[in-house]
Amino acid sequence: MQLIGHKATKNQVKIALEAASKLNRSAPHMLFAGVAGCGKTSMAKYIASRSDFDFLQVPATDFKDHKSVLEVLENLNHIGYDRLGNRIGKVKPTVLFVDEVHAMPIGGQEPLGIAMEEYKVPYGKEGSCVWIPYFTLIGATTNDGILSKPFRERFQGMRFVFNTYSDEEIIKILGLHADHLGIGITPKSTREIAKRGRGVPRIAVSYLKRARDLCLSRDGNVIMHSMVIDTFDEMGIDDRGFTEVEIKILKALYDAGLPIGLENLSIVVNESAKTLSMSAEPFLIREGMIIRSGKGRTLTRQGKEYLAKIGYAGKALKSEIPTDYVRK
Ligand SMILES: Nc1ncnc2c1ncn2[C@@H]1O[C@H](COP(=O)(O)OP(=O)(O)O)[C@@H](O)[C@H]1O
Ligand SMILES: [Mg+2]
Repeated sequence: MQLIGHKATKNQVKIALEAASKLNRSAPHMLFAGVAGCGKTSMAKYIASRSDFDFLQVPATDFKDHKSVLEVLENLNHIGYDRLGNRIGKVKPTVLFVDEVHAMPIGGQEPLGIAMEEYKVPYGKEGSCVWIPYFTLIGATTNDGILSKPFRERFQGMRFVFNTYSDEEIIKILGLHADHLGIGITPKSTREIAKRGRGVPRIAVSYLKRARDLCLSRDGNVIMHSMVIDTFDEMGIDDRGFTEVEIKILKALYDAGLPIGLENLSIVVNESAKTLSMSAEPFLIREGMIIRSGKGRTLTRQGKEYLAKIGYAGKALKSEIPTDYVRK
């Protein structure tokens, strides 16, 4: 499928692939960092398919030690080599995609790092090595801050960041995916979905699929505006894209009137602390609704205004919030 945006990345990749082809070797290894659902896996697949290379996806946790690294690398495409590893024809370097690469055990990072640089893995007796065909490792991570420094340095200069998209880009992405799903959609419907999509293609596309389902259940073949509105009503998502949990967070903070720590907030809204810190909280912070400090989470003025706008005036009895939920 087509990939919207990322002009600079595509350009750099194109140059690297052309050079690699002329040198009869692989393009440099790449690190894709950034927000979940913003196209890292898609870009890796795009690179493999545009060059007609094999695409091999392996979980980071499979690279545990020398042995497991070798087991994975045995699966690389060996076309173009003789048995001793000499290039005797045109090679076809595999795109080895490792998602959540920051989760790779240190024991695997070391031999894989050597394979990435020297295309061989030390093994067995002192000094003996197994040769490895050329490959391009594409590591994706939502947290490249925790990658070990030596491993990160294997991705020289080919680090690309995947951020959230503008509404205009999300609109284009939705159009593309609607075509792919074989469903019609009006421009007004697309805008309505994009408005709530948080700039994240995976979220926007998942909403599109829910609206498509509703459309089909009503025997339609074009997603009309009313269907989108009904879909979001059913999902409990308001017109700014806030979920029920997020609105609950805002209300809890309003009622408390004091900063609340993550653990306590997760009890109040009945969601895991992980879900809160990975998805709800970053969005609320980005939208200026809450701030996070050492003392906990606090509602901003904007957050209060938003609650007023949706008609929330607080709990009648503030004392209903147990005092131990409130961090002093
Ligand atoms: N730039 C883009 N253009 C078109 N579709 C995209 C784009 N980025 C992401 N998507 C779509 O969003 C979804 C999630 O993308 P994915 O590549 O899995 O994100 P990530 O690997 O960063 O978590 C997929 O359905 C993908 O097709
Ligand atoms: Mg992914």
